[in-house]
Formats: sequence, structure tokens, C-alpha cells
Amino acid sequence: MAAISLDHIRKSYGAHVIVDNLCIDVQAGEFLTLLGPSGCGKSTILRMIAGLDSPSAGGILFDGRRMNDVLPADRNIAMVFQSYALYPHMTVRQNLEYPLRKRRVPAQQRAAMVDNVAGILQIGPLLDRRSSQLSGGQQQRVALGRAMIRSPDVFLFDEPLSNLDATLRAHMRAEIIQLHQRLGKTMVYVTHDQIEAMTMSTRIAVLEGGKLLQLGPPAEVYARPATRFVASFVGTPRMNFLPGALVPGGFRADGLALEIAVAHAADAVRVTAGVRPQDLLLAKDGLPARVTLVERTGQETLVTTSAGAQTLVLRLDESCKLRIGDEIAIGVRPGKLHLFDEASGERLGNDDCHP
Ligand SMILES: Nc1ncnc2c1ncn2[C@@H]1O[C@H](COP(=O)(O)OP(=O)(O)OP(=O)(O)O)[C@@H](O)[C@H]1O
Ligand SMILES: [Mg+2]
Repeated sequence: MAAISLDHIRKSYGAHVIVDNLCIDVQAGEFLTLLGPSGCGKSTILRMIAGLDSPSAGGILFDGRRMNDVLPADRNIAMVFQSYALYPHMTVRQNLEYPLRKRRVPAQQRAAMVDNVAGILQIGPLLDRRSSQLSGGQQQRVALGRAMIRSPDVFLFDEPLSNLDATLRAHMRAEIIQLHQRLGKTMVYVTHDQIEAMTMSTRIAVLEGGKLLQLGPPAEVYARPATRFVASFVGTPRMNFLPGALVPGGFRADGLALEIAVAHAADAVRVTAGVRPQDLLLAKDGLPARVTLVERTGQETLVTTSAGAQTLVLRLDESCKLRIGDEIAIGVRPGKLHLFDEASGERLGNDDCHP
């Protein structure tokens, strides 16, 4: 196990700053996910931890030891990529053995280590197949096996599941979680899929444009997003946003007959209010709106409505009988409004936004 510190990391290509003043402490044995949209610098950060790329400034430390000048092969890390990077002409066994051969591990020991990993990942029956003859999920399991076989201190994953279909992705997600529990190794996982981040991580680091916006356990990031961007990125269906203003004792939405009591001690006047679809409900004296779309998943019903110029999505239960064109009135569950400064996008101090 190893703790990893990213200490004021900066990475630039010429004048183009990719990662800016990044500080993250990954605890030993933790499953930390770097979550953010395409191009925000996730792979660049992972490659710097692996030693495949070097920071323009700042330190990378493993257990307090500076690693900047340590070669990738000497960092005792294993990396799993989106493209499995297996050797297609080799059998599964040969692929698994490859990192061991490079380290001149004796044949008998190699065979025992391959059997051990094959047992954990249940790929024993595949050992003599060529990797080009495997399904995507099987290939990804072999890639995991090849990463595990040297017992690295740190596992780095760069979107390892994005080439798989939805069912296999869910299955492999569970396997990686179990692997983490079983091995207890430090894992840093890169994804732009917030469901993966929410379900797998001990903590999530949300990034935008090479900057860290929030670092915390999934439940905290979900319940108290630090910025409007985080709020919009985490949670499906997406949080609803309403532009408006703070008025004494509450929030008033622009152009809508909607005023919600919130305790606030904020200086900002112009704000954006956020409310998750499950925190909107049908309420007699609520905001008038018209249903524009009804989507039933079997276990819930997503109802899209238009209220003035705004679109609001409600998440109701499966018994909902609403149809397109229905006129409804919408209320907000008490204490469920998130307020963000309109200009900066920062969360306002409405942690207890009960009226
Ligand atoms: N060698 C390079 N030279 C110049 N710019 C680069 C280089 N490598 C990456 N970049 C730029 O750095 C930014 C971050 O790239 P990076 O690959 O880290 O993003 P990412 O978050 O992993 O995105 P994705 O989700 O699409 O994989 C991008 O704007 C990319 O164009
Ligand atoms: Mg990437």
C-alpha cells in the first residue's frame, strides 16, 4: 500500500496550462476517482502518477518520498487502460506472465502466480486462448489480471470500462470494487462516468479545466456539491437549475411565480437555485407547469415540464399517471434547494436551507 500526494502540481504544454496548482492526498488503500468531462486533464494526472509524463512544477510523492525522478518501472504501480493493451498473438497465460518474465521470475513461481490470479478473476478456462479470441469483458479481466500479478502498491485505471456494453460495465464495476476490497491496495480511477464514480469510490475528486473543484466521499459530493458545475455533473437525471434572486427570507425565481423560503446569510443577490428531480413534487398551490415528456423506466417516472421559459424535470414513482399536455403544479421539498452564486458558481452557505 502507498499513500500518494500530488503537491501543487502544474502541467503545461507551452502556454497551454493543462493542470493548475493541483493538490490531492490519496490515502493508502483508498479508491479515489478523478471525475470530470473530456479534456479536463484526468489522463494527464494519471500519467504523471505513473511516471509516463512529468509535471512542469510540483511534487509527486509516494509515502512522503519524492517520485518525480523515479522511472515508471521502479514505482511499483500497474496501469489498466481503456484499450486493454493485451498482446493479441499471445495466449492469456503468456499475457499474464509477461510482466513476470520481464522481471525474470522463475517458471515454477510464474505458473503459481498465474494460477492464483486466474482463480481470483475466474479466467482459468481461458488461459490457453489467444487474447484476440476473447470478448471485451474477458479481455478487460485479463488486463486486470496482468495488472495484479506483480502485486503492485498502486493500481491506476484510465477509463477501463468505457469500451464495454452497459451490462458488462456494471459487472466489471462490481468486480473492481470486490478486487479493491480483497486486495486493499491504493487505487486511482479515472472516469467521466459519474455512476462509476459514485458507486466505486471512497472519495471523488471532481475536476474541470485542470482544476480541482471538490474532493470528498460520493455521498457528500452528491448532497453538498461545492459548485454549480459539480451539481450539474453528479446525479442522473441532472439537477434542475433556476436563475433568480435572494429576497428577504427566501429565493425568488426569475419570471416564475415561485418563491421558496430559505434561511441564508449570503452576500450575493443574483443566484442560481438547484433542485434535484426527486426533490420536486406535485403540490396544489405550487408553480403552474405543463407536462412535455413522460418517461417510464418501470421503477420510476421522469416527467419533463415547462414552466414559463424554464424546463423542470420531476422524478416521480412508477404509479404516476401523468400524460403529455397535462397541467400540473410543482412544489419543492423543504430543505432541498441548493443555492449557487450566479457569477462564480460557488455554493452559498445554505447548508441548512430549511425555512
Ligand atoms: N502531449 C500533449 N501536448 C499538448 N496538449 C496535450 C497533450 N496531451 C494532452 N494535451 C491536452 O491536455 C488536455 C487534457 O488532456 P487529458 O488527456 O488529460 O484529458 P482527459 O480528462 O483524460 O480527457 P478524456 O476524458 O477525453 O480522456 C487536453 O486539452 C489535451 O488536448
Ligand atoms: Mg483521458
